Amino acid sequence: MTNTFKIYFLIAGLTILLAFLQKLDKAKQIERGKSLFYKKGCSSCHAETTKKLDFPFQRDREIYGREWVYQMIWNNQLLRIKDIRALELFKKCYNTFMPVWPNMTKADIDAICDYVDSFPYDPNSKDNLERKVK
Ligand code: HEC
Repeated sequence: MTNTFKIYFLIAGLTILLAFLQKLDKAKQIERGKSLFYKKGCSSCHAETTKKLDFPFQRDREIYGREWVYQMIWNNQLLRIKDIRALELFKKCYNTFMPVWPNMTKADIDAICDYVDSFPYDPNSKDNLERKVK
């Protein structure tokens, strides 16, 4: 075997190992998000993919942006004052109030979002269409 081949094999091996480690990492992150989703009480109003008391929030980071989602969790009342989409959403579900979590870390919020985003997502499901605010 030539040295060039050895190097190719080494690189291929390392790439596979890295992909495997990333997969493990992702699985751990989703597990953490699931536990937070139940421990922090999100599950009392939200389900992962369908409407419970309130809408599901799959793909919100793509739809509204990461920063918007952080603000929504930290203080949804404050966000409503400056963001018309938050206000529109609130009007659609003013039967309940979302509590505030001003101390939740971005990492925890991301883990919860990674958890719900790990489920199949149908942008055209009845609940996802209903929650849409332009
Ligand atoms: C008491 C009920 C309640 C609980 C508990 C709750 N929410 Fe909400 N959530 C709401 C309501 C109502 C809205 C609609 C908008 C609003 O009130 O501003 C909402 C909206 C959202 C939104 C954005 C809008 C959307 O519908 O896509 C996200 C993201 C969200 N919640 C995440 C969470 C997370 C994460 C938790 C747990 C840490 C949580 N919620 C716990 C009631 C709740």
